[in-house]
Amino acid sequence: MKTTTKSKKHSRVTIREMALRDLSDVYELGAQLFTAEKWPTLYRAWDEHEILNLFNSESEYCLVAECDEVIVGFALGTMMRKPRNSWSYGWLLWLGVSPRFKRRGLGGRLINKLTDTFIDDGARMMLVDTDAQNKTALGLFRKMGFADEMNHVYLSKNLHAHPRYIERTLDEEEWEDEIG
Ligand SMILES: CC(C)(COP(=O)(O)OP(=O)(O)OC[C@H]1O[C@@H](n2cnc3c(N)ncnc32)[C@H](O)[C@@H]1OP(=O)(O)O)[C@@H](O)C(=O)NCCC(=O)NCCS
Repeated sequence: MKTTTKSKKHSRVTIREMALRDLSDVYELGAQLFTAEKWPTLYRAWDEHEILNLFNSESEYCLVAECDEVIVGFALGTMMRKPRNSWSYGWLLWLGVSPRFKRRGLGGRLINKLTDTFIDDGARMMLVDTDAQNKTALGLFRKMGFADEMNHVYLSKNLHAHPRYIERTLDEEEWEDEIG
């Protein structure tokens, strides 16, 4: 009985290519997931332009999960083809599942569907990346067979004290004074 209820919930979630009308919902869901407090690097890189660019250039690698006409997940990727290299790499750039739907296999379904599309288009390898502390995503990626982990370190620098930044701010203030 319990199994039937669970499988009904699963069957209501469909995965399809993202459409133009989904862009703002995908952005909103991502903004809920990639918060400055939790994942500062993901937060900085997540914006409407990122989604729009991916959608405009490679919409076949932009997937959404939908339940009762509500977007509850997404996977956005890109295909990397290098000149003079016969290998193509499918790169999963962004993955998100609504907290209400977590741990129901949706992240895995999105990855599987994107993997199929990458393979159909000639990819021989797939890449994923995330914050080193993102245990949930890492758990999922490992479960889906991703391995050979390598560390990549992000560093940041506040530019407020940079002479050019100060100069630019002063120029802007002068200009604002002039126009009144
Ligand atoms: C990562 C994320 C996409 C997973 O989505 P999901 O639909 O819950 O994932 P699934 O149900 O398909 O897979 C669950 C698997 O992930 C792993 N997992 C989930 N939560 C975990 C946790 N807290 N610790 C370790 N592994 C975990 C397990 O392997 C789990 O399999 P199991 O349920 O059989 O044990 C989702 O949690 C999310 O949107 N997180 C915020 C955004 C994010 O971090 N995105 C990835 C970087 S772009």
